[in-house]
Amino acid sequence: MKVIAIDGPAGSGKSTIARRLADRLGLDYLDTGAMYRAVTFAALRRGIDPADGADVAAIVGDLELEVGPDGVVVDGVDATIEIRGPEVTRAVSLVAANPEVRTDMVRRQRAWTVERGGGVLEGRDIGTVVFPDALLKVYLTARPEVRAARRSKEVADLDYETVATDLARRDALDQGRDESPLVEADDAVVVDTSDLSVDEIVASLVERVGAP
Ligand code: DC
Repeated sequence: MKVIAIDGPAGSGKSTIARRLADRLGLDYLDTGAMYRAVTFAALRRGIDPADGADVAAIVGDLELEVGPDGVVVDGVDATIEIRGPEVTRAVSLVAANPEVRTDMVRRQRAWTVERGGGVLEGRDIGTVVFPDALLKVYLTARPEVRAARRSKEVADLDYETVATDLARRDALDQGRDESPLVEADDAVVVDTSDLSVDEIVASLVERVGAP
């Protein structure tokens, strides 16, 4: 099974690189962050406090999640726009730190990949937890100010300072949590994307994967 794991903090370029790489390699692409966001969306919509671990854990198993390249549907409701909004973004690190949520998401991510015979998965724990035997593990990083600038371009209604503060807070939560914290896998290829073009990075990763 051809599995490519792309991990790294917010704004490191994961989605852009993972999508392009999947395209070049003829593989499907899965944004696992969108899955944690979708669970957060479902909890908020049901009036559940995202900090209430037991209540969130109680809904996760039965959720109908469809995460595709063009959007996310949660229990039949299109949540593509809302999962990127400030409410979900503020609460998602809490939900992603919930062990029951993680167990269920990892199970779904593995099933998704097995169904397709491989894929390019982006997240925080793909190379360390979900697929420790991935064919290629990539850890993307970028300088904090570069990551914040990329994110603030995506969210037009928030100023740079707000985005930078929120990013630093989420980094600390993702890296400091007990359950599958964001860390580089020992055997990951580490790429600082601050000063490299997408084409350069994708070309070098395609070369590493080698011929089919
Ligand atoms: O990549 P993103 O910003 O959409 O991720 C949303 C949140 O989910 C972020 O707080 C990190 C978390 N996440 C995770 O814990 N594990 C993953 N595999 C993917 C995302």
